[in-house]
Order: sequence, then structure tokens, then C-alpha cells
Amino acid sequence: MTELIHALRTPSADPGTGQVQIGDAVSRVDGRDKVTGQARYAAEYMPDATEAGLLYGVVVSGAIARGHIKAIDTGAALAVPGVVDVIWHHNRPKIRSFDIFYKDMTAPGGSPYRPLYDNEVHYSGQPVALVVAETFEAARHAAALVRVEYDVQPHETYLLEHQGRAKKPSRLKAGYTPPPDVKGHPDEVWDKAAVKVEASYYSGVEHHNPLEMFATTVIHGADGHLTIYDKTQSSQNSRWYVSHVFGLSKDKVTVRNPYVGGAFGSGLRPQYQLPLAVMAALKLERSVRVVLTRQQMFTFGHRPETQQRLKLSADADGTLTSIVHEAVAETSRYEDYVEVVVNWSGELYACEHIRLGYKIVDLDHASPMDMRAPGAAHGVHALEVAMDELSYALNMDPLALRLKNYAEIDPTHGLPYSTKELRECYLQGAQRFGWENRPLEPGTMREGRELIGWGMATGMWDAMQMFARASAVLHADGSLVVSSAASDIGTGTYTAMSIIAAEAMGLPLEKVRFQLGDSTLPVAPIEGGSSHVATVGSAVAGVCEKLQKTVFKRAKDLPGSPLATARLADVEFVDGVIRLRNIPGTSVSLTQVLAGIEEPLEEKYLMLPNMLKQMKYQRATHSAVFVEVRVDPEFGTVRVTRVVSAVAAGRIINAKTARSQVIGGVVWGIGQALHEETHCDHRLGRFMNHNLSEYHVSVNADIHDIDVIFVKEDDRIVSRIGAKGVGEIGQVGVAAAVCNAIYHATGQRVRSTPMTPEKVM
Ligand code: MOS
Repeated sequence: MTELIHALRTPSADPGTGQVQIGDAVSRVDGRDKVTGQARYAAEYMPDATEAGLLYGVVVSGAIARGHIKAIDTGAALAVPGVVDVIWHHNRPKIRSFDIFYKDMTAPGGSPYRPLYDNEVHYSGQPVALVVAETFEAARHAAALVRVEYDVQPHETYLLEHQGRAKKPSRLKAGYTPPPDVKGHPDEVWDKAAVKVEASYYSGVEHHNPLEMFATTVIHGADGHLTIYDKTQSSQNSRWYVSHVFGLSKDKVTVRNPYVGGAFGSGLRPQYQLPLAVMAALKLERSVRVVLTRQQMFTFGHRPETQQRLKLSADADGTLTSIVHEAVAETSRYEDYVEVVVNWSGELYACEHIRLGYKIVDLDHASPMDMRAPGAAHGVHALEVAMDELSYALNMDPLALRLKNYAEIDPTHGLPYSTKELRECYLQGAQRFGWENRPLEPGTMREGRELIGWGMATGMWDAMQMFARASAVLHADGSLVVSSAASDIGTGTYTAMSIIAAEAMGLPLEKVRFQLGDSTLPVAPIEGGSSHVATVGSAVAGVCEKLQKTVFKRAKDLPGSPLATARLADVEFVDGVIRLRNIPGTSVSLTQVLAGIEEPLEEKYLMLPNMLKQMKYQRATHSAVFVEVRVDPEFGTVRVTRVVSAVAAGRIINAKTARSQVIGGVVWGIGQALHEETHCDHRLGRFMNHNLSEYHVSVNADIHDIDVIFVKEDDRIVSRIGAKGVGEIGQVGVAAAVCNAIYHATGQRVRSTPMTPEKVM
């Protein structure tokens, strides 16, 4: 039973799905498993068929922002029937202390936070104890009885109050690429310019709110092996982290994440429930599950509070003459979290004079974390709102201003773009939206009591490729299993990889299974940065090409084979046959080839990016976002009634899930624009609206018409499959377009997000 429970369930398409091609709109191969409850998440695994044998850990969260733990009284908690242990820094198992043994693969520079390490309190809500019990209810009740005595020290949690301490991130410490050096003489040019704008933009803290809570189930095997189900964007990152922290060899630990209920960057790093669950499992030699509460989801990282200043100048004809973009963002006391906030301003528009600056301030918060389109979400927002402000200063259409300054080469590095169909995004998006009917003057469109405004903005995100391995096994029955330790955080990885493999081998989709989510599978990177398809997809294409060669050779060697003299380049794998491209009817079926095999045919492949070639190009995805808002000027309420997002993201693998990614990004962009902010009570140094009733995200009633266009683009420099990646680009620029639409509706410029009613009124 244990084996059955822990067999990796690999989803595949419904029978009869048939042949698919890259670019088709294909329903998720894991869709059925998800809607029928077959797909299991980290907190749903059991050590065996019954729940007996599983211990439950509940985290006690600290109450102060800075100071020391003087004492912890665990007596009352331990007296609760069913409670097995209360683990804190005095009685925890041994963990490594050196930073280099306490790093996950995505740790920023500095000294990572170590839960239950010592008596130091670094931020409000940090875990101070783990109560472990035979039932969840007992653990939860006992957790409320743990008494912690603190020695409180003064804390600093408000960025704007402590900007004076801003410093450049340490290059060494953070492995950090600072913004490029100043180009030309931007400040002098700006001073003398005829048309110019200068403005500051503020964005508050935002938190990830994936549906699935962070959770870890550690199955403690009789032999001491740990099988860990973890909510993470990389099983191998969590495996590496556990091995490092607890000094366990690689073969002692397996981490799995076959399903992840959203993460958006919060799972790029292992979260503290993972080491806590492992601590308890090692100490008690039992299987343990730790699930964080929604409140605790607000205690391990967030999109950093950021303050930006922009100066833009232009000639009277709209030619941009200078760009100055400076940002100050928060980090923690223990790590230099950095993100790319300002660099976009040197990459998006043609300009001779550019100065960029980026500084951080350490505060008594948990380290900030990557959150969907980290850096760009704020940075491109400020640039695109400033561009809109400049368009009004010029009395020029905002889209015309962008087209006027369209960059044909990357202005910062002087590099050509690998591909850049942004112009098409502008043109197709504008046409679909009906932009040509837009009056230049703000505040001129009205319907009933509502003011109507149309705004637009540009989006930009990196097109990255990492390295990855993949294996492929073709069985005698014509079924194909392709594997890589990739993740599917809801993005559609299972489906995209299955499509790539199915097309390559000419197999119907239901014959292909893609295995991911297990640290023992071939190496794959963390699912992040919108790079998974370009990376893992290329590894899958590579391994399938090797498999094609093997199968083709066998097809040639069949007695009387019509392909005996053919070369691989002459044939294609389609509809279950290998056929000559140019001579119809000349084919060998895969069934014929496989009839003769005794062992399944297996290939392995290592995909390394062609970095020498890639370095010669600026590689990015782009978008143009057009938005209609309706504003009630008396209440300051804003409805985003229409969005057109035109995206250039290379070749699209699955039109359906790619569209879903962009829609999700637009929804989040509307959240950034209108709803999302975590409020800190600075007297306590604590985030107060740590729940979904007070941390507002866009809900159904906020979302109206969203139209997604993928313009044709095919980028063989970023990836051999032509794909660039579509995760984050959907979000970038959306909030700016909403801001610009609000201005067009009302003539009110809102320079901070979220643009809540009291700011819009
Ligand atoms: Mo994304 S913020 O790289 O998960």
C-alpha cells in the first residue's frame, strides 16, 4: 500500500486526444486529475493507507519585530493529551551553521534566516517553536498555550522613514549585477530640455497569495530515508537545501512536488515549514506534516516596498532626450535581496542619455522575495506612467510617443534583439482595442455618472534559458515517458512538455507522459523567471531528437525498409509513422519498429544554452497593454472594463495555457493597480491585513473583458523550439495602463499603487 500511495502519478491526456502540434490550444493533460481530486498536493500525502503514524506540526509565530527570546514556557502545551514535543532553539536537532551550508539555490547574498536557530528575533511573525502532536487539533490547541518571553528592541519597518540609510547592494555579497554606468549626460540634458517631467512613484508591500498553503509532509522511512512532499518551485532545490542544512547525503532525501497550487515566486526558495518538518521527523524518527496558516503565509517574504523617481525629457517632436530612473527598495537585516527595477528603463526606448540608480535599505522585515515579474512589476510601471505623463506634456498620443522612440537596438548594451515584435504588439493591440478613436484630451468621455478613460503601456520581461537534462523512454506499446525534475506550479508544464514530445515523435498526446516533480529525475532548474518552457522544453526537444535517430536507424534496418537509403533530414515523424517528407506513401509505422524491440528504447540528453551566441543579443519578451477604465468620480471607484494585451513571447507551445498565463497576469496587474497592499503597523512592525478578507486581490466581480493576442514571433536564439516564455510578461505594464487610463478618465495622476478610491477621488 505504501508503494501505491507513493508512486508518482503522471497525468496524461484523455484517450482520443490524438495528434497535436506545437501552437495548438490543448487542454491540460492534468486537468482531469485536478478536478477529480486525484492530483495530490504536499499536505495530502500519508505515510501509509491510514493516517496513523503521521505527526502534525503547528508553528508558533513570534510576536515582536526585533529582539531576543528570553524564555519559552512549554509546560502547558506539553500537558495537552496527544502532544509529543515542542521544538525550539534549545532542543532542536543539530543543523549546520555556516552560511555556505545553509543556502538554497536562490538565496540572495547574506546570511539566510534559520528557523529555530537561536534566540534572535529578526522580524514579526518568525517561527519561534513547533508544536508536534498526534493530531492536528491537539497541536493547534497546544500551540496557543506556548508562552514566549521577549527582550524587545526597537525596530525599523517603514522604507520611507529610513531612506537615508539607502546603500548600493554589495556586488560581492549579492552576486549582483548593478544597473549599467551612466550613458551620456542625462542630468545636463534634462536641465536644458524644453519638454520634461519629473515624478516619484511609490508602491507598498505585496504578498503572494497562492491557493495552496506552504506545506511539507516528511515520510520517515524505516531505513531513515526521508521522502518529502514539499510545496516548492523546485524539488531539487528543496532536496539540496535539506541535505545542506541537516548534513544528509543526497541518497537519504527525496523531495517531490508533482502538483503545486500556485506559487508565483514564493516557492523559489524553500520556506520554513520544510526545515521545521524535517527537524521534527529527524528528532522523533516519525513522519511529520507541517502546514502554514494563511496568516503565516505573510511571514516569509513579499514584494518589497519601493520608492522610485523618474525624470524624462524630450524634443518638441517627441524624441526622448534623457531618462533618469532611480529606485530605493527594502531588504532585510540579514540578506541583500535585490531585483532588477530600473534597468528596463535603459532597454526599452531609444535614448542617448540615461542614468539609472538602485539602492536598498535594510529593515526589520523578512527578506523580500521574487513575486511574479519581480522588479519589472514596479520598475516598468514607473517608467510607463512617466512616459504617459510625458505624452501629455508633449500633447502627443501616448502610443505615438512609444512608436517614435522605438528601439531597434538595445540602447544600454548596443546589442540587437534576438527577436522583437513589439511594434506588432502595439499595432495589433491598438487595432483590436480601437485606440484610434481615443480623444487626446483627458476627462472627455462619460457615460452616466462614470468617466471613461483609455490608457496603454508597454511590458517587458527577460527571455532566459537555463540548463536542463531530460530522459525519454519509448516502450514497445508505443507509449513514451519523458522525464525531468521540472515543476508545474499551475503554469501547464505537464502539457507543454507532452506536446513537444508528442509532436517530435508523431505520437498521439495520450501516448505521452511527462514526469516531473521528483528530485531523483534528471536535473532541471527551478521553475521561475518564465524560463521553464525555453529550458526544459529544449531539453525535451533534444532528447526526442536523439530518440528519433535511434528509432529511425531501426526503421532503416527493418527487412525491405522503404527508408533504407533515407537520411534523418528526409523524414518526419507524423501520425505514428516515419515518412519521407517529399514522397507520399513511403512510410514505416512506429508499431513496426517497436515490434522488434525487447527493451524499451531510452535516451538521455543534456541541454546547455548556447551562451556565446545568446550573449550577442538582448533577449526579452514584450507586450502592449490597452485598458479601458470606468471611474465613479464621487466614490473614486474604478472598474477595468476592457483589456487588450498583445504579447510577443516567441513561439507559443500551447495556445490555451499560454493565454491562461497572460489572463492570470492581467488579473494580477489589475490587483497591483487597484487592490493589493500589505499594511504594516509600524508601531508593532507587523503586517496587519494578513488574510484574504483584508488583503484584497482581484475577484470575479473586478474582472471584465480580457483579450489576449500573441503576435507571431519565433526565437531560435533563446531556444531551439523558438519559445521565449509567457509567465511574467502578462503582468508587466498592466497596472501602468490602468493608471494611465484613470488619468485619461479623470485628469488625476495617481503616483502610488494600489490606486484605491481615496487616491482616485
Ligand atoms: Mo517567478 S517570480 O520567477 O516564480
